Amino acid sequence: MTASVPLTARPAWQALTAHYSQISKRHLRQLFADDPKRGERLTLDAVGIFLDYSKNRITDETLKLLLQLAAESDLQGRIEAMFRGDKINITENRAVLHVALRAPRDASILVDGENVVPEVHAVLDKMAEFSNRVRSGEWKGHTGKRIRNIVNIGIGGSDLGPVMAYEALKHYSDRNLTFRFVSNVDGIDFVEAVHDLDPAETLFIVASKTFTTLETMTNAQSARDWALKGLGGDMKAVARHFVAVSTNATKVSEFGIDTANMFGFWDWVGGRYSMDSAIGLSTMIAIGPDNFGEMLDGFHQMDEHFRTAPFEKNLPVLMGLLTLWYSDFFGSETVAVLPYEQYLKRFPAYLQQLTMESNGKYVTLDGSKVDYETSPIYWGEPGTNGQHSFYQLIHQGTRLIPCDFIAFVQELTPLGRHHDMLIANVLAQSEALAFGKTPEEVKAEGTADWLVPHRVFEGNRPSNTLLIEKLTPAVLGKLIALYEHSVYVQGVIWNIDSFDQWGVELGKVLAQRIIPELESKTEPKLAHDSSTNNLIHRYRELKSA
Ligand code: F6P
Repeated sequence: MTASVPLTARPAWQALTAHYSQISKRHLRQLFADDPKRGERLTLDAVGIFLDYSKNRITDETLKLLLQLAAESDLQGRIEAMFRGDKINITENRAVLHVALRAPRDASILVDGENVVPEVHAVLDKMAEFSNRVRSGEWKGHTGKRIRNIVNIGIGGSDLGPVMAYEALKHYSDRNLTFRFVSNVDGIDFVEAVHDLDPAETLFIVASKTFTTLETMTNAQSARDWALKGLGGDMKAVARHFVAVSTNATKVSEFGIDTANMFGFWDWVGGRYSMDSAIGLSTMIAIGPDNFGEMLDGFHQMDEHFRTAPFEKNLPVLMGLLTLWYSDFFGSETVAVLPYEQYLKRFPAYLQQLTMESNGKYVTLDGSKVDYETSPIYWGEPGTNGQHSFYQLIHQGTRLIPCDFIAFVQELTPLGRHHDMLIANVLAQSEALAFGKTPEEVKAEGTADWLVPHRVFEGNRPSNTLLIEKLTPAVLGKLIALYEHSVYVQGVIWNIDSFDQWGVELGKVLAQRIIPELESKTEPKLAHDSSTNNLIHRYRELKSA
């Protein structure tokens, strides 16, 4: 059941609109001056994640109204529907059960009346067994050499999760193994990934939910050619050097991979929500089944928190509501995610698919066009690098860019004073953004009058700070689940389907039409618009010149 009143007609939305006009100009300096305990009060410490949301342009009234909006949108009912396995992905008539991927062995979650948890654990067990064989050297390549290189071939959710998790948890990984990730159909990606690898020591994981994705299948074919060439052309070698992760057994065996070496998952796992399914096989090989299990437990802890915590103490709910507040009332177009942790360097890229493929929608569940903004654009880079490039715009540009800062108390690889310097920087950034520097302060430093406006920081630029003890596999799981559920919170309120991705289809279809036109030996008859026709002509002409 979705809330039947259109979003902008709901009482809380209208109250928020009125409230926004009252407080939109209020400065964080004032909000902090009015409440000396604000920095302690507007925080939340749950499941090992500490969120400071005090540097947001909100009052207690804002929070009250946002929580009321969540209630009027039947958020509780929609959360229960997801966990219950209802087919909430309505355009594909599918349940959405990434939470089942990290449910404990004894849990029961039904899809079409069948408990899916035993199947989930059967696959995890099979992955663990395989991972241990690779890690121990027991799994040998075709020539009898042990596997030293693992290449994951996949794209979108079949790449971004694995590569992000590998980078994030490198500290916990087996450094005797080399991991590479190939995604782009641009041949350079594959060529560079394998240029220094010995095929006899290389295992390819072909990761594709559908096993039909153009990029992945093209890369997988090139990988098979490369491996067979290096291994003397014996087709039997494929079985020792290729495994598949997919929901499509037929296509896997057509490709030549023995389905005994296939790790399955299910249509109720969306690509961008799949990194803790078999899609995480490369992660498990890298960090080992125990660490992978800890990561799943971290996910599960956040799932339980999301499902059971009251909304005012619920991390994904609060973060989701704050994002919506800026997108829909302040007109913010983007959110910057800024991890002050080098290991999280691919986290913003991962979040881009999670957030934008989920909530980049302009029609509601009943197909009518929305009259409010949906997903903001997510972007970011690890700190402190961004400070020396785009932070200028966050501090002094004309746009309001809410920031999520992510930092850890303990460093994984201590090195002199580096970590204190790193953390001093993240704290300094959120302070500078919120409070800025007034003209009076700038003048008091003896700045020439004409230069004063250039050196003023208006401040009042909002941010969240997530300060977490240490980056562990469990913490990574919690962090990802936090964003996953925050995306759902927003999708529920916007009344959109956060789990389909029809917007990626048209380009795929058109590309299939253009490929033969580019490759045709004879001049093709083109029936595109004049721009596309002209570009195709030009490409063909220059290529054959
Ligand atoms: O094109 C978008 C998409 O369908 C993503 O949602 C998905 O993660 C990606 O392609 C890869 O799909 P597959 O795992 O089926 O190859």
